[in-house]
Amino acid sequence: AAGSLAQAETGRLIVVSNRVAPIEEGQPTAGGLAAGVLDALQTMGGLWIGWSGEISAEGSRILPEKQKGKIRLQTLDFAEADYQQYYRGFANSALWPVLHYRSALARFSRSDYAGYRRVNELFANAVADALAPQDVVWAHDYHLLGLAAALREKGITNRLGIFLHTPFPAAAVFMTIPVHADLARALCQYDLIGFQTESDRRAFEDYVLREADGHLLPGRALMAFGRVVRTGVYPIGVQTEEIREQAEPPADCPQMARLHRSIGESKLIISVDRLDYSKGLNERFLAYERFLEQNESRRGSVTFLQIAPPSRSDVETYREIRLELEREAGRINGRFAELDWTPLRYLNKGFARQMLMPMYARADIGLVTPMRDGMNLVAKEFVAAQNPIDPGVLVLSQFAGAACELKAALLVNPHDPDEIAAALERALSMPLSERRERHAEMMAVLRRNSLTVWRDRFLGDLKGRA
Ligand code: G6P
Repeated sequence: AAGSLAQAETGRLIVVSNRVAPIEEGQPTAGGLAAGVLDALQTMGGLWIGWSGEISAEGSRILPEKQKGKIRLQTLDFAEADYQQYYRGFANSALWPVLHYRSALARFSRSDYAGYRRVNELFANAVADALAPQDVVWAHDYHLLGLAAALREKGITNRLGIFLHTPFPAAAVFMTIPVHADLARALCQYDLIGFQTESDRRAFEDYVLREADGHLLPGRALMAFGRVVRTGVYPIGVQTEEIREQAEPPADCPQMARLHRSIGESKLIISVDRLDYSKGLNERFLAYERFLEQNESRRGSVTFLQIAPPSRSDVETYREIRLELEREAGRINGRFAELDWTPLRYLNKGFARQMLMPMYARADIGLVTPMRDGMNLVAKEFVAAQNPIDPGVLVLSQFAGAACELKAALLVNPHDPDEIAAALERALSMPLSERRERHAEMMAVLRRNSLTVWRDRFLGDLKGRA
């Protein structure tokens, strides 16, 4: 065992995720995964394998490698059918809703699942081509639940780990996926499965113990499907110092000057989310409307800036939510706007981090109210971007993974518009001393559970250091 441990120490790191970070600097990144993995890999280097974002008429294929700083990037194009069945189909129309406790929105089909398995095999081929005996493989998220099984079928015995960025739902919810048993069996081919929170880890453990005949071993390990698999909790973090630096843009930044000019002395509430039904956007709009109804004196002196870049727009449920939000934003503005005041600014585009962090710093409130979220890095970035002398207030859903750590935020139930409206008013009138205390408490957590700690703990456990 000592020999294999030493070998594992010397191997390279191969990261696999469906989405990789954009090659060019200053481009918006879709979701927390790509940004987090990029930061975590930048210092230590390694090979990163993922989808190019392109559909190719020539069928699925592995493209030549590119270099991005210390990272070697290997991307794959997908054939149309692979994209449809794996990405649009099984991953985002079946798995995503169920993992976020929205089984009623899930659309399952056997052919989509076949496509999902096919693309997992495609990724396994790319990994196998690059793999040396001592390398460790770190897979990310719900797109790749079947990667380890595909690699094991090729006889590969390297250490394989996966980190799930999304929630893992209660067993009864997970079981609404018709192929749940197959997925669980495939997952157990990994050596280590990482979760964002203890309740996600427990839900998985509970499923394996009750539904898959598994049993507990010491050290958070499980015996299931004839294998030993370890589980662990690794809440993904952010790089606080880098964010604080980005939050202070050069004094002559034209975009920020535009924002300052147009907001003036107004209080600013900011939300940034992919346009996704799990983010609670509609519920949030209604809560803001409730706030305006209840706090007449705030009208005209507060602006709610909702940045919501479109996401997965060829999935029906995503098209529906987009239409619904357009209607609601128009209705709320129509009801409350004045000649010189727009209560809600709704933007369907993404911004690069260099723009977002100064906006967070300018905002008085970060309003982060997903119905369910694995972690939600916007919540953490908002806190890290604040000026500690005069920090803004975070209003956070109790159903975001981040709520387990950011207990000094104003925690709300996203299903309760009155509670959110009251939290907004409380945040706007919160004394400076309380804002500082809450901010300092949250910063202490963020510094302790940094992105580096997340990476090192996961890889340490994967390589076998306890
Ligand atoms: C979430 C998921 C990621 C995904 C991201 C963006 O953060 O956990 O796996 O990459 O959303 O979604 P997209 O479908 O555009 O990759």
